[in-house]
Amino acid sequence: MIYGLVNSKGGVGKTTIAVHLAAFLAAKRRKVIFIDADPQQSASAWIGEFSTSIRLEQLDTDEIIHRAAELAADADDIVIDGPAGLSATTRAIMLRADRVFLPCGPSILDLRAATKAVHLLRDAQQVRDGLPMGALVPNKLQKRGRLSREMLEAAKKL
Ligand SMILES: Nc1ncnc2c1ncn2[C@@H]1O[C@H](COP(=O)(O)OP(=O)(O)O)[C@@H](O)[C@H]1O
Ligand SMILES: [Mg+2]
Repeated sequence: MIYGLVNSKGGVGKTTIAVHLAAFLAAKRRKVIFIDADPQQSASAWIGEFSTSIRLEQLDTDEIIHRAAELAADADDIVIDGPAGLSATTRAIMLRADRVFLPCGPSILDLRAATKAVHLLRDAQQVRDGLPMGALVPNKLQKRGRLSREMLEAAKKL
């Protein structure tokens, strides 16, 4: 299974969720390859600190497209941490992932960014016969926050 963490905005939790997902899968004794597709490479540093069993790859846009299948043959799961922005890299992830998660925080800017990412996801699904499946992941919500409540309402419509 190839999982991608994408959104057009930074700071929404892509890297945090990607690293936790990879650690979760590795703890289940699955063979995990982590593709760090963010030039900032914060996930690489983080994984390097705690895991020796997760194989790390730093791939650029073309490499994601050309090497995803080859790497998938070598792992149970692949987790791709995407960069901020609906860049060519994000599009490449949409072309190769089976599942994408779109983290979204409780702010209007986050919601606008997520809306753009959802549109891109739908474009990819049209070309790829429904793939990748996508899930919006409300993140950093506050239990009694008005913005958090509004965000969840708006997310339902997306
Ligand atoms: N659920 C959460 N609760 C609190 N802080 C979070 C949560 N998810 C992410 N963060 C924090 O938000 C910041 C941005 O997260 P990060 O995963 O780096 O986002 P991105 O990769 O989308 O830029 C980090 O400081 C991270 O620790
Ligand atoms: Mg990140």
